[in-house]
Amino acid sequence: MNMKKIAILLFTLSVFSFSSCYYDKAELIYTQNVACDTTNIKYSTVVVPILNSNCNGCHGGNAAMGAGIILDNYASTKVYIDNKRLINSILQNGTASNMPKGGSKLDACTIRKINAWINQGALNN
Ligand code: HEC
Repeated sequence: MNMKKIAILLFTLSVFSFSSCYYDKAELIYTQNVACDTTNIKYSTVVVPILNSNCNGCHGGNAAMGAGIILDNYASTKVYIDNKRLINSILQNGTASNMPKGGSKLDACTIRKINAWINQGALNN
């Protein structure tokens, strides 16, 4: 290969790597800013429905499958917010049991909504 061919090859490779970078960034911006509305997140209107549909089959007060961890009322949910077990379990980051147990990870937007509620003080609102 002569120098000119090598130069063309390098140029082509760099164009491909720049375009893939750009694509990754665009995708990230899309998931963070467009696809997920994290405004006006309240315990009663957003968090309770998420927990009821994904968690309380096992962690509801009458369910026997949640190892005694109750997530169907504010006071006992708050315990697992304060000790970070709840957020770590749904982030599946290796510091708590992965939740929902036996199911697929919650989608990124659902996790961001719970996280937004926690960051605003995890109020009983
Ligand atoms: C199929 C039943 C089931 C479902 C669904 C489920 N859990 Fe669990 N969860 C368990 C069991 C059982 C444990 C006890 C630990 C273990 O066995 O991994 C547990 C443990 C936990 C813990 C304590 C983790 C730790 O390491 O201390 C938290 C917090 C938790 N679950 C939250 C959730 C949340 C939030 C959801 C919904 C997104 C959920 N769980 C869905 C069964 C379930």
